[in-house]
Amino acid sequence: MSAPNKQYDPKQVSDLSAEAIDAMVSAALAAIESADTLDQWKEVRLEHSGDRSPIALANREIGALPPAAKVEVGKRVGQARGAIKAALDQRELILIEHRDNEVLLAEKVDVTVPVDRSLKGARHPLTTLMERLSDVFVAMGYEIAEGPELELEWANFDALNFPKDHPARMMQDTFFVESPDSGALLRTHTSPIQVRAMLERELPIYVVAPGRVYRTDELDATHTPVFHQIEGLAVDKGLTMADLRGTLNHLAHVMFGQEIDIRWRPSYFPFTEPSAEVDLRCFVCLGDAESDLLDQCRACGGEGWIEWGGCGMVNPRVLVAVGIDPEVYSGFAFGMGIERTLMFRSGVKDMRDMVEGDVRFTRAFGLDS
Ligand code: PHE
Repeated sequence: MSAPNKQYDPKQVSDLSAEAIDAMVSAALAAIESADTLDQWKEVRLEHSGDRSPIALANREIGALPPAAKVEVGKRVGQARGAIKAALDQRELILIEHRDNEVLLAEKVDVTVPVDRSLKGARHPLTTLMERLSDVFVAMGYEIAEGPELELEWANFDALNFPKDHPARMMQDTFFVESPDSGALLRTHTSPIQVRAMLERELPIYVVAPGRVYRTDELDATHTPVFHQIEGLAVDKGLTMADLRGTLNHLAHVMFGQEIDIRWRPSYFPFTEPSAEVDLRCFVCLGDAESDLLDQCRACGGEGWIEWGGCGMVNPRVLVAVGIDPEVYSGFAFGMGIERTLMFRSGVKDMRDMVEGDVRFTRAFGLDS
């Protein structure tokens, strides 16, 4: 037996009994179990398995034990440390998983939530419709023609065979520029483009011209002082009224479907002879004579039909005025209302919707390509 160690102070060293070590383990396990966050877990680890933890201090004591006790106590402390470490590792995994789940929840992105996009503008339905109408003719070999909106009175009226005192000039309720003597006006129809096309182009001529026109009408459900027409002109050898009918029937079918009911009425225009007006069966009351709707129908005024546009064979006097021999060439022309076409195609009952610039109107049609 060796002599008692004088330096040995039982108060400064850990109790290495099985109970004491078990108590350390139980305290550590309880603390580990109650760690709810990774931060708490780190504190617990420091406290129960760090360098100054009871079990670490106990471990340090082993070296000072007599060899006989070393093995047993060493095993006991080793197992205790292993148990604490295993509990810490297991708890850490759980807490990491909790943390990750919380992060996933907190940072969840719902890709279906509409984001704050800046609004894309929409093209006006009249614009897209003008392109569609033009396409129907381009597909038949027509070219697109243009003319100025500020037009010569000569092209708008004189060259189209309107005599100086013809009531049509007044009938058309023209916006003159500066003074009626200026010779300039805002075109009242797209027909002056016929004159320009015949002056500028080689024969034969097949053109369409969509464009804006002006008349001094008050704005109401069926009138607007600025509206749109699509003009068509064909000048070739041997063209007849049958060609005109076939062309406009085709346009009506493409625009409104095969079922559309159309009507031709004899009419008068100074620049076509003979002339006709083309009507479409009213899309609101359907022209049903049996129905009470017909009498009160605001869209057609009780007619059952709505005028779509005017047309006719180009008056030989107009051909002569632009230097084309009416003995060799004949032509047909037409001018259809684009607002009317839109009303029919899309069921727009009030023309004011088309001009008031409410984006809800244009946006509703904006994706229509
Ligand atoms: N320009 C005529 C109008 O605005 C329509 C029309 C065009 C008639 C071409 C005949 C030929 O009413």
